[in-house]
Amino acid sequence: MTLAPTSPGAATTGTVLAPEELPDVPARVLDPAELEALVTDLAGRPEAWAEHARHDTGGRHYVSLFRDAHVDVWLLCWNTVDDTGWHDHDTSSGAVAVTRGAVTESKPRLGGEAEERTAVAGASFSFGPDHIHRMVGAVDGSVSIHAYSPPLWRMGQYSISDDGVMRRWSVSYADELRPLD
Ligand SMILES: [Fe+2]
Repeated sequence: MTLAPTSPGAATTGTVLAPEELPDVPARVLDPAELEALVTDLAGRPEAWAEHARHDTGGRHYVSLFRDAHVDVWLLCWNTVDDTGWHDHDTSSGAVAVTRGAVTESKPRLGGEAEERTAVAGASFSFGPDHIHRMVGAVDGSVSIHAYSPPLWRMGQYSISDDGVMRRWSVSYADELRPLD
């Protein structure tokens, strides 16, 4: 997920981490398990990114930690008002490691209640490009590390109407994800 800073309070687009601060990864598109290993490694080294976490900007706060031809890595800060809305990651696989607090991930189920799980600090998960989800902060002051491969470029943002009709809009990774419904 998600997104360069276009909103007030969002952080820099600059890359925070030097390549040597990332764990050794192959110079190619990474699969979900490799991405999960990457975010888990970074989650265990808060000295590399913790100074960039903020929850007092009045909007969603996210920082691009790293981006090259094969992978991009983001720091996301969550309060309970923060909600990505339904989205996909186009051709990218992704992984999330929660480092503080908790985030709730939901997957839409047509004609039924969404499948929901809450990942707490220390938990991680990953997904392929077929994945559609929505993430919200479950606890104010939560922090998570995300990685995507290939790097995010286009994404799909969805609305689901009250009667269950789903629509997809293609958006740039530089657009802030938000609920459309
Ligand atoms: Fe996402």
